[in-house]
Formats: sequence, C-alpha cells, structure tokens
Amino acid sequence: METGKLGTHPLTEERGLLFGGDYNPEQWPEEVWRQDAELMRAAGVNLVTVGVFSWARLEPEPGRHDFGWLDRVLDLMGEHGIAVDLAIPTASPPPWLGHRWPETLPVDEDGHRLWYGSRNQFCPSSARYRERSQLITTALAERYAAHPALAIWHVGNEYGEVCHCDESAAAFRAWLRERYGDLATLNESWGTTFWSQGYGDWAEVVPPRRAPYLINPTQRLDWRRFCSGELLGHFREQRDVLRAHTPDVPVTTNFMGFFNRVDYWSFAGEQDVVSNDCYPEPGNPRTPALTALTHDLMRGLGGGRPWVLMEQATSAVNWRPHNLPKPPGQFRLESLQAVARGADGLCYFQWRASRFGSERFHAAMVPHAGPDTRLHAAVREHGRELRRLASVAGTPVPARVAMVFDWESWWALEERGRPSDRLNATEQMLAYYVPFFERGVSVDVVPPSADLSAYALVVAPNLFLVGDRDAAALTAYAHGGGVLVVGPFSGVVDPNGHVRTGRFPVPLREVLGASGEEWLPVAAEQPVRCRWDDGAGFAASTWTELLRAEGAETVAEFAEGDLEGRPAVVRHRAGNGVAWYVGTMPEPAALGTLIGRALDDAGVTGPLPELPPDVEAVRRGEVLFLLNHGADTVRVPVPEPATDLLTGSPARGHVTLTPRAVAALRPEVSGG
Ligand code: GLA
Repeated sequence: METGKLGTHPLTEERGLLFGGDYNPEQWPEEVWRQDAELMRAAGVNLVTVGVFSWARLEPEPGRHDFGWLDRVLDLMGEHGIAVDLAIPTASPPPWLGHRWPETLPVDEDGHRLWYGSRNQFCPSSARYRERSQLITTALAERYAAHPALAIWHVGNEYGEVCHCDESAAAFRAWLRERYGDLATLNESWGTTFWSQGYGDWAEVVPPRRAPYLINPTQRLDWRRFCSGELLGHFREQRDVLRAHTPDVPVTTNFMGFFNRVDYWSFAGEQDVVSNDCYPEPGNPRTPALTALTHDLMRGLGGGRPWVLMEQATSAVNWRPHNLPKPPGQFRLESLQAVARGADGLCYFQWRASRFGSERFHAAMVPHAGPDTRLHAAVREHGRELRRLASVAGTPVPARVAMVFDWESWWALEERGRPSDRLNATEQMLAYYVPFFERGVSVDVVPPSADLSAYALVVAPNLFLVGDRDAAALTAYAHGGGVLVVGPFSGVVDPNGHVRTGRFPVPLREVLGASGEEWLPVAAEQPVRCRWDDGAGFAASTWTELLRAEGAETVAEFAEGDLEGRPAVVRHRAGNGVAWYVGTMPEPAALGTLIGRALDDAGVTGPLPELPPDVEAVRRGEVLFLLNHGADTVRVPVPEPATDLLTGSPARGHVTLTPRAVAALRPEVSGG
C-alpha cells in the first residue's frame, strides 16, 4: 500500500475536502443519534471518527463483544452519506484489563503504578496488553472490513505512553542487546566509566528510573529511542491486522505536532495518511506562525502529501488553566490555514459536547446549548464553504526552502546538565521559521536524512546531535550549490551523545568556513550588542560563542564585552553554494535580516511583492491563500487577476481582508 494515499483516495476524489469530527455516540441515548446524523448532513459533515474510547463498551468483559450498537452507528452514518474513520480503541483499555492484569498498568519513574479511571493507562511493552490489543483489533477488523461506511482506520489515540516497569526493563534490555550486541559495547556507548556506572551483567541494566542526581544522558537517549519504538511496534501490530483484512483502507494514528515523546519521522512512513491534532493557543501572538510550522511539519511527515487535521477545537478547550474562547471567525480561519498548508481533512474534537466526564467543558461542533446557536451556525457555514474548495483537495504546497528537524537531536539537546536550558530546539525552529512566514515563503520541514537536492535554501536552526552521514549530506548540499544556514550549538554531539572533540562544529567546520572553541551563554537580562557588516546594530541574547572565521566572511560581529570584534554570524562560499553559521540568538528583526540575505543568496522570494503584517500568504496548488491574523482590516495588493473561491468574487489589483478574513485566490487565465 502506498503511503499518503488519501490524496488520491476515492473518499477525497468524491467528496473533496473531508469535514467532521470525533463522534462519541456511546455517551448519548440512541434517539440523539438520528438527530446527530441529520445535523451532520445539514452541516456538510462527511467524515466522523467513531469508537476512540469505546473499548469497555465493545468488550464489556474479556472476549465478550457487544457490537450491536456500533453496527447501528455505522449503518446510520452510511445511510446519511457520512464516511467513518473507525478507531481501534487501544488508547483506553477497560478497567477489567488493569484489574485482572495489573502488569498492564504503567509504572512511572518513581515506581508508582498509574491506575485506570482516566485514559492511557497501559504499559506499551506489556505482552498481555499487546495481546488484548490484537484481539480487539482483529474482532473489529473482521466485523467491519466490508462495511460500506468504513473509510479509514484510526489506531489508538495520540501515542505517547511511557512505562518503567520490570517488563519494560526486560524489553529495554532486549532492545539494547539488539543495538549493541554485547555489554562492552553498551558500556562504551553509554560512557559508563563516568561515575562508576559500568555494567557487568545485563540484568543490572534498567530504565532511567528516579535516581539521586543526573542520569547518564546516553542511557536516557536510548530510553527515549526505545520508548518511541515500543509505541511504534504496538501501532504496527494493529496496522498489520487491519491491512490483512482491508488492504485498501488507509490506516492512521493521530499525531500531536511537535510532541517530544515520539519520533514521528519513524512513525510517518508506517501509516497511510498522516493526521494531527492541533489546538492553537488563543491570544498568543506567536500562535499563527507556530500553527503554520506545525502544519508544515505534518506535510513533511507525509512526504509532501495531503494530511488530515484530525482534531481541533471550535472554541475553548478544557485543559489549559484558563481557557480562552475563540472569537467568531477564529476556528474558520484556523481550519482554512490548515487547508492552505496541505490538509485534506478538517475535523474537530468533538461533534457533540459531552454532558459528563473530564471533557464536559470542551467546545464542540454542537455545544451544550444545542444546534440553535451561533457556534453551530458557524460550523454549518464552514462545512458549506469547504465544498467550494473541493478542487484544492489533493494538491501540493510547493516549497523551495527546507527546515531540518530531528527528534533524536531534540532529545539529546534537552538532557539536563548542558550550558543553558534556554536554548530550546522547538523555540529555535519557530524563531527561524517566523521570517519565512512573514514573507509568505513556504517551508518544508524535513528530517536530516532527507534528499535536499530540490531545495534552494536549507536551514538547520539547531542540530545539536548529528551523525557523520547527515553532516556530510549537509556539506555536500552546500558544495553542490545550495544555501545552508546552521544555528548555534549544532554539530556538538554524535549519535551516542558524546561530544565531538576539536573546534566546533566538528563535522560542519569545513563547510561553514569557521569554527569555535567556547559556548558562552549570557544573562537573560543582558542582551549583547552586535553589528552587521554595514554598521547597523542589533541585539542578541541568551547565547554567544567564541568563533573564528576560517575562510568565511564575518557578516555580523559582537560589538561589546569579551567577544567584541569576534564573529557572531559568518557566511562562507562553500563550493558552488553558500553556508551561514549563526553563533548567537539574534533578536527577531535581526534574524529576519539574516534570513532575508540567505533568501537573496538562494534567489527565493515570496508569492507577493508586498505582504502587510499579520497576513499569511501561502500557495497550495494554483490557489493563493491569504489569511488575516491581525486585528485590523488590510488591503493586500494582488498583481494577477483572480477569483476568490470562497466568495466567487473577482479580485482585481487588491483584496481587502477584515480581521480573521481569508481569501482563496485562483488566478484567472487571461481572457478567461
Ligand atoms: C486530544 C484527544 C481527545 C481530546 C482532546 C481535547 O486531541 O485526542 O481525545 O482529549 O485532546 O482537546
């Protein structure tokens, strides 16, 4: 089965964009279901996710199934032309599992078992849990393989569980044996001569459980790799059952954006469609850019193919301490932002607001007050307008810029005991992303092992951990004519987390034409003055490095203190290309200047000559999306005659966007 087949799946070919949400009919009496189905149809809903948390209802005791209610739900959806994303409910096992087999319950790093009564209470390595997961997966696959409403399988929910129990310890040891072969190699890779940590027997090796002081960073790095791999193993087992029964039905599991515990690069190729849950934080000025970056990550995870926004909220969530609602127009804006960045499915958590349970106060598509509400009216209107964008389904978002992001490097960077915890991998990603976002320059997010040859500009905001092969590929990319930008504290450790000795960044020193010898974090309240080569000043903060140019030109230097006159930013003509290294954290405007110069090196421009602040511009297929995230009405000059697909109106010379307004401009063929 091809990955990412949703783009060409009959579902989107027939229906255009998918619209819907999580549907939890088990929380409602059956008379409400019919009403739901009618309301869904009226709202243009064409996809619902059913059964994510239904295990206890489907299997009230081990081996006894109650499928009748789910049969009726699927039939009802089918009758109303609504496709079903059918969940495998393994994210929340029934109480009987933990009660009969307590070893299936997860244990935290302090050795405490976590109980049922919530959700996610499973040990990913538990053989019993895995066995019961297989059984319920098989039962669902057998029963619904041929159901006409079945369109996608949805395995589990937001994978991320970790368990430190003895069974997990045994699985960890097996994983380590596979990786290292023998204890001597493990000892060397973990650097166990430090603090008398040498292992003499495999039985001594344990997960990083609570310890008196800092835990061996390589042990923790391997533990993270192992934990992510255990979840992937669980996903694969279920996926394989589903594929065996329904080779043509795509399988997905919902991601959580830049989620630390799971290496999504490893998961992405194992599923047929990438899907994500995204809950942008209302009221945070950085939200539009962070959301855009997250969407670009999803597109990257799918290798550029369309993805599904599996969950978002129509208004306030319930899990922040103070839950701001979304003003009218906001959820529509966010949904269209996802469309613009490659989503073919726009789904919500959840269809009907729960009356009971921990998520009673989470917004939904049908609020507690019912369908006769402004919120539900907006949902219906949004469903209608998505049909006008049907032609966008399946189309790509072309990008000439790539940003490199790597989970292993993220994990390694975040180990305690480093020069500063203020240098943060995802913050660096966002900081370097913002200048592209502000110019409307599309960015693909890629792993370090990606084929970079199609990109004019590649940015690695932080690659603390980098393998030799990936460093060589970045070097070859620049030598081959690409423009490479590398952020601070990159190329520092090898895949074991061992510091590469020599002037840093050791594996990138040659391509960057510069090297360093000291990392020098600075006090938060003391920004450092810097100077561009044209004399203009800017401030940098948090982080500086003692660098020396070795063939590179110094494009900015530190203008005060110990480092006065030393390079802060260098640019090197490397082979046929250009490589930049940034040895500090420039303030946002300065980072904008730097990225502007790198874009000039790469010959890349945005889609419009002028873009007002707070307006996002992104081209998907032939359609140019313009989204106003600001509080003011703006006029955006649009050079080419176009039609706004959302309104059907012509755009001539400019479009006017009120706050939260969106235009989806399809160019008019001249004379057409
Ligand atoms: C996640 C989960 C849902 C629900 C929502 C609430 O996306 O997958 O089950 O808990 O969060 O925002």
